Amino acid sequence: MNESFDTPAGTALRIEPHAHIDFGASVVEHLPDAVDRVGHRRAFVVTDQGMRATGILGKVLAILDRAGIETACYEGVEPNPTTRTVDEGAAEARRFGAAAVVAVGGGSALDAAKGIAIVAANTGVARDFDYTAEPPWPGLPVIAVPTTAGTGAETNGFGVLEDPARRCKVYIGHASVRPRFALLDPELTVGLPPRATAATGMDALVHGIESLAAKGANPVSAAYATQAIRLVGSSLATAVDDGTDLEARSRLIMGAHLAGLALTLSGLGLVHGIAHSVTNHTGAVHGLALTSVLDRVMQWSADVAAAPYALVAQAMGLPGSGNPDQDAAVAIGAVRDLAEDVGARLPLRELGVDAGMIPGIARGALDDIVSVNHPKEFSGRDVETILTAAL
Ligand SMILES: NC(=O)c1ccc[n+]([C@@H]2O[C@H](COP(=O)([O-])OP(=O)(O)OC[C@H]3O[C@@H](n4cnc5c(N)ncnc54)[C@H](O)[C@@H]3O)[C@@H](O)[C@H]2O)c1
Ligand SMILES: [Fe+2]
Repeated sequence: MNESFDTPAGTALRIEPHAHIDFGASVVEHLPDAVDRVGHRRAFVVTDQGMRATGILGKVLAILDRAGIETACYEGVEPNPTTRTVDEGAAEARRFGAAAVVAVGGGSALDAAKGIAIVAANTGVARDFDYTAEPPWPGLPVIAVPTTAGTGAETNGFGVLEDPARRCKVYIGHASVRPRFALLDPELTVGLPPRATAATGMDALVHGIESLAAKGANPVSAAYATQAIRLVGSSLATAVDDGTDLEARSRLIMGAHLAGLALTLSGLGLVHGIAHSVTNHTGAVHGLALTSVLDRVMQWSADVAAAPYALVAQAMGLPGSGNPDQDAAVAIGAVRDLAEDVGARLPLRELGVDAGMIPGIARGALDDIVSVNHPKEFSGRDVETILTAAL
């Protein structure tokens, strides 16, 4: 057992209040109220290139329009958004003027919107505002309308961007762009295709698992993480099988949100470090890159992380033996089975990785800031072994 969950007296904690959350079918209708409550009558909507075709963008714009809120829209966000996209969106936001930034879409749109909200309020370019730099001015207020149930990006003020010139991830962010409102409307996720439902749901599950095992885990993050694993573990296969099952969609979007709260408090670990590097090299979908290595990283880490992995088994409703090593093995097996069941556990080769890329991907994983929170020390050779097994 990770003692910090059991001995809160020894844990120093400061938890910032998080966003105002509206959860439930049709809460997207509350958008005009959210814009009003962040002090604006104008909204700059940031979304990705696919969102108009889903009908969701039209619905959001109609809701704002009916309430007399003036809107402009930036639709240029791509999966795994770049610093270039943020600079382009920020230039448009500056031209539109003071407004609430309404982020509509998956983690890509939410992350890009946070970057746009910072850069629009400050002069400079996206890569100047990595999360370690204090921007001279706070960002524009952000309202999040997630349309995937995965990243939990609505819970924090950070965005993961790709810097195409340097081929690395840039973490952009500031407390001022943590969404002030998040509208968690499961109906918006009903049209998400099975493959994307599986990939994004696995992302949420990994957030819960890595958060529980992270060096930064604490009693509060563990509470969020275990409930996240319970909700996602019990609904993902159903939502992939039948996207219209609103109960499963509701469990998933709430689970993903709680997992986001968990990771924001605890940090993540090596599964994310490796997956970010795989995506940098191949453009692979985030959730699929994670799932390719998830159970192998757990297996390799189990000698030091048996206690948190045993909690994963418990959260997934699996019978416990009381022996953490045995229960951790059960969790690893269950996670692998679920990933196979939803079709998200692919060989890395199918994501575009070849053997020659492995040393470069391993170096990238070592350099990624999320990896330092992993509970077990690792070398480049360890990561190469994991990648080779997942190939
Ligand atoms: N800030 C954070 O805390 C955090 C955490 C994890 C991941 N991320 C980032 O989030 C990004 C991944 O986000 P994602 O997994 O949500 O995917 P995404 O935002 O890239 O979207 C994937 C695809 O799904 C489509 N889509 C989204 N919602 C839809 C819907 N309801 N119906 C039909 N199609 C829909 C989009 O158009 C897009 O083509 C990555 O860039 C990752 O780095 C951020
Ligand atoms: Fe993630």
